[in-house]
Amino acid sequence: MIEDLAPADISLVVDWVVGDQTFAAYRIAPDGLSERLSRVVADPRHRLLVCRRQQVLCGFAWVVLDGAFDRCGYLRLIVVAPTARGQGVGGELLSAAERLAGVGLMLLVNQCNQLGQRFYHREGFRQVGAISDFVVVGQTECIFFKPTPSAD
Ligand SMILES: CC(C)(COP(=O)(O)OP(=O)(O)OC[C@H]1O[C@@H](n2cnc3c(N)ncnc32)[C@H](O)[C@@H]1OP(=O)(O)O)[C@@H](O)C(=O)NCCC(=O)NCCS
Repeated sequence: MIEDLAPADISLVVDWVVGDQTFAAYRIAPDGLSERLSRVVADPRHRLLVCRRQQVLCGFAWVVLDGAFDRCGYLRLIVVAPTARGQGVGGELLSAAERLAGVGLMLLVNQCNQLGQRFYHREGFRQVGAISDFVVVGQTECIFFKPTPSAD
C-alpha cells in the first residue's frame, strides 16, 4: 500500500539511505537528511511516499512536483529496505510517483549504479543525458525521463 510518509517513518528511511553503498559518494549526513525530510513533509511542492506491506514500512520515494525545469515531476530519491528488494516495492513506488508527475517524471541516477539504471530501464525510463560534477565533484549523474502516456 502506498501512503504519505508519517514523521515517525523518517528515522528508518534515513537509516536505509545512509547505510546504502549506492549513496556513499554523496556523504549524506543522517541529521541533515532527517531535518530536510521533516521540513518538506508539509510542503505542498513535495510528496513523500512510503510503501507498507503487512503494515511494515518497506520503501520510500520523494517526488518534487514540477521539480524538473518547473515542467514536470522530479524523483529526488527512491530507496527500498534492503530486505525487501526485488519484490516489486520499487516498481510500485515508481508507478505512484509517475501518477503525480504531470507530463513526465525525471530523475538522476549515478553512472556507477548499474542496478538502479537497470531498474529504471525496466520500468520504461530512458536516458536522455548525463551531467558531471553536478551533485558531487567527480561523479556523473545519468538523467532519465519517462513521459506520461497521453490519455488519447
Ligand atoms: C533500485 C531500487 C529502488 C529498486 O527497488 P526494488 O523494490 O528492488 O525493485 P523491484 O522489485 O520493483 O524491481 C526489481 C528490479 O530492480 C533492479 N534492482 C536494483 N537493485 C536491486 C536489488 N538490490 N535487488 C533486486 N533488484 C534490484 C533490478 O533491475 C530488478 O529487476 P530484475 O528482477 O529484472 O533483475 C532498490 O533496489 C534500492 O533501493 N536500491 C538502492 C538505492 C537506489 O539505487 N536507488 C535508485 C537510485 S536513486
